[in-house]
Amino acid sequence: MPSSGGRLVLLAGDGIGPEVAHEARRVLELLAPAVEIDEQLIGGAAIRATGTPLPDKTRDACLASVAVLKGPVGDPEFDAADVRPEQGLLALRGALDTYANLRPAVAEGVDVLIVRELVGGLYFGASGVRDDGTAFDTCEYTPAQIERVVRRAFGLARGRSSRLASVDKANVLETSRLWRRTVNSVAGDYPDVQVEHVLVDNAAMQLATNPEQFDVIVTENMFGDILSDLAAAVTGGLGLAPSASLSDGGPGIFEPVHGSAPDIAGRGIANPTAMLRSTALLLEHGLDLPDEARRLTAAIESALGAAPTPDLGGTATTSELGAAVREQLSVDGASVATYRA
Ligand code: NAD
Ligand code: IPM
Ligand code: MN
Repeated sequence: MPSSGGRLVLLAGDGIGPEVAHEARRVLELLAPAVEIDEQLIGGAAIRATGTPLPDKTRDACLASVAVLKGPVGDPEFDAADVRPEQGLLALRGALDTYANLRPAVAEGVDVLIVRELVGGLYFGASGVRDDGTAFDTCEYTPAQIERVVRRAFGLARGRSSRLASVDKANVLETSRLWRRTVNSVAGDYPDVQVEHVLVDNAAMQLATNPEQFDVIVTENMFGDILSDLAAAVTGGLGLAPSASLSDGGPGIFEPVHGSAPDIAGRGIANPTAMLRSTALLLEHGLDLPDEARRLTAAIESALGAAPTPDLGGTATTSELGAAVREQLSVDGASVATYRA
């Protein structure tokens, strides 16, 4: 994988997506000038332009890219429609086989990494509406689908505090019992990692009341979706929470945990931090530029103190916080240049 160059696909998405994606683009132009940024359509914007939420052109560009940086999709305009923006996102995750979704949540005293299975379970099982009006969604997991994400989580735990909480609903669900058996059998290969099983309802309560106890959490698709919003809420809010969705060697998808926030879209007040932290994850995991990732992370930290957005109790706009991040980067860049000279 090229580290200094290559082609990145930027999917701005819907709602606040273009507002936060703009800030990410400007940061990338500073930190990774050799990377070509190819903007493509997804979600509601793609439906309006082409009739489909993941046009072939977008999918093919993503498949041929080094990585995908994505804003949120979704628009109330399509809530009752058959063709919906979110279908484009699920199709993209499936096409790139980004099965391991890393959702870090960090705050004073809390450092949780949720590893969410991303291309199986209820989201990808058979679903439909029968003639009698009954609606159904099916949750299915193969052992291989579980094993690969669980192995990834064990490996990540080993690089941190070596504690892994596997979250399931094994007291009710057959897929959860398979999940638990798989975790127990993979655990034999990681004797240094301390494993516990937590039922999902209790996990939600524990995350809300005592999040410090967790290091790495691994869980299936739907549970991970819900728990990651909760983990974001207890560590400063959705405006701060990034994610990296990784496959085995193919391009990853880097996107905020939050959605398109229709309630604040178009007002220029969205917090760009989740998107910028996703950009830092992209620099680290997608472009193999760990120093640039560290610089961006540090610049975001300082800028947040100087220019917080309304969701954090401040008054800064999206572009003011973005500008503060770039200013920090240039201060930091100038001192690096001086030091080198
Ligand atoms: P949401 O995450 O968009 O918003 C929830 C609340 O958090 C809102 O009050 C919103 O204003 C606030 N919020 C979210 N991001 C923020 C930011 N960066 N700065 C400040 N405040 C922020 O969740 P929702 O309202 O349930 O969903 C809206 C749409 O987004 C839906 O169509 C949903 O499907 C979609 N969605 C997409 C993704 C994605 O593309 N990955 C993720 C989640 C939701
Ligand atoms: C997320 C979102 C998506 C999900 C939706 C928009 C399909 O909520 O990335 O967390 O449920 O995976
Ligand atoms: Mn979600």
